[in-house]
Formats: sequence, C-alpha cells, structure tokens
Amino acid sequence: MDKSLTRRGFVKAAAAGSATLAWLSAGRSPTVFAAEVDKPALLGGAPVHKGSWPKWPEWRQAWEPDILKILRSGHWYRGSSGGKVPEFESGYAKLLGAKRCLATSSGTTALITSLHALGIDAGDEVIVSPYTFIATYNAVLIHKALPVFADTDPATLTMDPASVESRITDRTRLVLPVHIFGIPCDMDPINAIARKHDLGVLEDACQAWLAEYKGQKCGTLADAGCFSFQNSKHIPSGEGGAITSNSDEIVDRCYAFHNCGRANGTFQGRGCFTRGVNFRMQHFQAAMLLQQFDKLVKETAIRRSNADHLIDGLKEVPGLQPVRLPENSRAVWHLFPMRFDSRHFNGMSRNGFIRALRAEGVPCSSVYHEQYFDGLLDEAIASRSFQRLFSKKRLKDYRDSFEELKGNRQVVATTVGLSQNLLLADRGDIDHIIEAIRKIQAHSAALVKVS
Ligand SMILES: Cc1ncc(COP(=O)(O)O)c(C=O)c1O
Repeated sequence: MDKSLTRRGFVKAAAAGSATLAWLSAGRSPTVFAAEVDKPALLGGAPVHKGSWPKWPEWRQAWEPDILKILRSGHWYRGSSGGKVPEFESGYAKLLGAKRCLATSSGTTALITSLHALGIDAGDEVIVSPYTFIATYNAVLIHKALPVFADTDPATLTMDPASVESRITDRTRLVLPVHIFGIPCDMDPINAIARKHDLGVLEDACQAWLAEYKGQKCGTLADAGCFSFQNSKHIPSGEGGAITSNSDEIVDRCYAFHNCGRANGTFQGRGCFTRGVNFRMQHFQAAMLLQQFDKLVKETAIRRSNADHLIDGLKEVPGLQPVRLPENSRAVWHLFPMRFDSRHFNGMSRNGFIRALRAEGVPCSSVYHEQYFDGLLDEAIASRSFQRLFSKKRLKDYRDSFEELKGNRQVVATTVGLSQNLLLADRGDIDHIIEAIRKIQAHSAALVKVS
C-alpha cells in the first residue's frame, strides 16, 4: 500500500479520535503501533524529524586565498580606489540589473545613508511598513523623523498599499516599504501614490536579494533599495550592506554621506559639501560577498523549489495559509511564513503549535511582535528633539494610531516562520515538515490540553 496514502488515512482517522482502530484495521501489529511513531513528540512520541538541518552560515575553503591576500596587502579599508569593494559594487549592481551600487557597513547604515541622500530631515514623516526588523524604524528615528506606520496586508505580510494614502500629511516625504522575508511588496500602487503626492520611495530589500516583482529585481523598483549582508542573510559577510539605485546623483550623495561627507562623482571638486559619517565596507567583507554570487543564485533556486513544495503540501492542511505574492513575482524566502488559524487545530494557540512543531524537530518561531509598543517610539516621542519638532497633538495622534494597525496585529498574532536554512534541506526533510504539521493537526484535540 502507498505509504503516504496510509499515513493520510491514518491522520484523518486520528483527527476523528480513532487513531488506534485505524492503524490496527490497516493490519499493523499492535507491537509496531504508533504509540511511539505517531504520537506527537510533545505527548511523548518520537519526533518526525530526528536529524539536523543545514547549518548557516557556511564558508568555503576556496574563499581563503582572497582573504589572505587582502590581509597580507595591508590595504584593508576602502581607500581612494581599487580593491574588492568597488569590484563587489559593480558585480552586485549587475546581478540585480541596477545602474549603480554602493557598499556599506550594514543594512541599517545603508538605510540611514539612503534616507539622508533622499532628503529626509528632522521633523519629516516617513510612511513605513510596521512588519519588519526594528532597524527600519530606527533608521528613520535616527534622522529625527517620524516613522508613520501603514498597515500590513494579512494576505501578503507586506505594506497594504490601500492604507498608505490616508497616512500622508504635509510633513510626509517618503514611503519605505519592506520586502519582508524576501516577499516583494506590491510596488506599482505604492509608486503610483508616491508619484501622485511627490514623495520619494525607498525599498527596504534587506531580506530580498534576487526577489522579483513583475520581472524586475527588488531594490531596483524605486528611488533606491537597501540590502543587508549580516550573518544570517542569504549572502552574508558577518556585517555588510548595500544601496542600489538607477540614479547617479542619489548614489553619489550616498557615497559622500557614507564617506565623511567627501565629494565624489557628480559632486567631484566640492570638498566636504555635506554632513557625513563613516559607514564604509571593508575589503574583507567584499571579498567574501564576491565569492557568493553563484552560491546565492543556486541556493535561491533550491529555496524556491522547496517553498513551492511546501505550499503544495499545505494545500492539504486547512488552517495554515502561505502568503499571496503579487502577480508575476518571485519571493526568496528569508523566512517561510505561514498564517496559523487555530479554528482548524481545535483551538490550539499559535504558540502551542510552535512548541509542538519544534518538538517534532522542526525549528520555527512567531517572528515579529508589535514592536511599536516596545518603548522606542515612546522614548522618541518624549525626547526634547521630537517635542520641539512636532506638535503635542501630532505626537498624541501618532501614538494613538498604533492601535489602528489591525492587519498588522492579526499578522503578528498568527504567523509561524521557518527559517531559510530549512529550505536548503533535502526533499525528504521538507516532507518531514509537512508530515509534522499534519500529525499536530490530527492530534490537536489532545495537544490543546498540554499546550
Ligand atoms: C528588513 C530589515 N531591514 C534592515 C535590516 C538591518 O540590516 P543590518 O542588520 O545589516 O543592519 C535588517 C537586518 O536584519 C532587516 O531584516
């Protein structure tokens, strides 16, 4: 008999509370009955997945000669010319189909630099995706600007374009959508609203290397895009970041800001014409990144293929919903998110489901919480600078508006995320994820009592 059919039949029967009978009637000896095999691990059964998952990050011996060469040269920082950083910049721009790229020390510093280059100043407002890593909020706050939250569309986990226009005030200068988990935002309506109101658009593509929206790479769809190469990312160098843009002027402004305000390119000959910082990337980082372009392309294809397999498997699991992608778009799955509906799991909580799935050997998490209640925005609102820059009424309305982020609240309460390294596993291991989920669903009535 087909093993998967047997299992599916068993799972259905278990859901009806007759697992033992089903197994026995299928001719299994009581000695091999799934007391150990099919009982949820949280209830004392054996976990579905007993092995490990692919490690992250990974290095290759072939990278070592380049790193050693830089070490021995003494040319470690980004000087006036040459070296691995500019080589990385032209390679990354080409990989993405962008006109230009500037390497930075991190994704956060890429965002701070781009916001400066796009004219964000103290007292401005920037419309931001609330469902993101905290650095997106921080990059705006560091400029003493207000991150005003659009809502999240629960079907896509990205900025709901329909929520953007109502957030625009006479202080709004820019929209900052986030391609979270490498899921492309619906950029056409976002860009159209921005154009209508004469606003800039910056893509936070820090998790979206090679993601595609309508045939174009994320990071090339607006005024500029920002990337992170931090340790956990698909193309890591410990720390690192990049800005991509099709505008020479924007990249030259970014270059100047990230390099102590020194003029270059379009602004050549003007000395230190702007404020600046030191957010330069090191040649060591660039050498590591240059080695990983092919790896990134190959692994992206593997993650996509395994994500498609998971999406197919989840079709048979009511109550775990994959995200909807914009038409003609491709995600890169920095996390593979699923929306959990407890009604299909006998009222089991999302966190109970996570505990049960982890017990089956499948690492997963609830990902982001409602970070706007954490205190950083209250601290900003109470600071002298924000008190001077914004009216009391504006700051009160702003704070009150967090309560209205209904879509985001739903997303935060129901998302379960599998991290990207799981998607690099063999197909058999990916099947374990589906099997573990089915097992939990089948036994949810019993699990609900312990979770
Ligand atoms: C969506 C998003 N934005 C910004 C950042 C900041 O990047 P970094 O950690 O390289 O500063 C990250 C990094 O995790 C991110 O995921």
